Amino acid sequence: MKILVINGPNLNFLGIREKGVYGDRDYAALLALIKEKADELNIELETFQSNSEGEIIDRIQKAYYDKVDGLIINPAAYTHYSYAIRDALASLSIPKIEVHISNIQEREEFRRVSVTAPVCDEQISGHGFDGYLMAMDAVINLCKNKK
Ligand code: DQA
Repeated sequence: MKILVINGPNLNFLGIREKGVYGDRDYAALLALIKEKADELNIELETFQSNSEGEIIDRIQKAYYDKVDGLIINPAAYTHYSYAIRDALASLSIPKIEVHISNIQEREEFRRVSVTAPVCDEQISGHGFDGYLMAMDAVINLCKNKK
């Protein structure tokens, strides 16, 4: 099973940006955490991070050709307004989980809206880095049930 994890803008700045919101651990620590779980579960894991909307769309489209089985995405700020990323996600008919480290319902008003969640199977928000592990379990279950 091949799972792709996409992280959007400023998530490479974890451990530097707004530590009160996102914690002290850096992006490398996040990657290590999800890689460890993927190894445990014997899942093929690919990760991608970009600060650019177009690059994220290109990577979602590449997932189609690569025959990725499931997708986990934290679109970061693009969550709230990128119809282009939403459309790219909608074109993939594989299990898709949206993750947010912080609880986007309990922050500024503009963060309460996700334009990408309606084209994903599930949204996991406010569980810190563990949200990615929860998303891995969720996406794997959806992939298994699809077969
Ligand atoms: C985020 C929440 C977004 O509102 C914000 O723009 C981010 C990170 C999160 O993981 O909590 O960059 O997606």
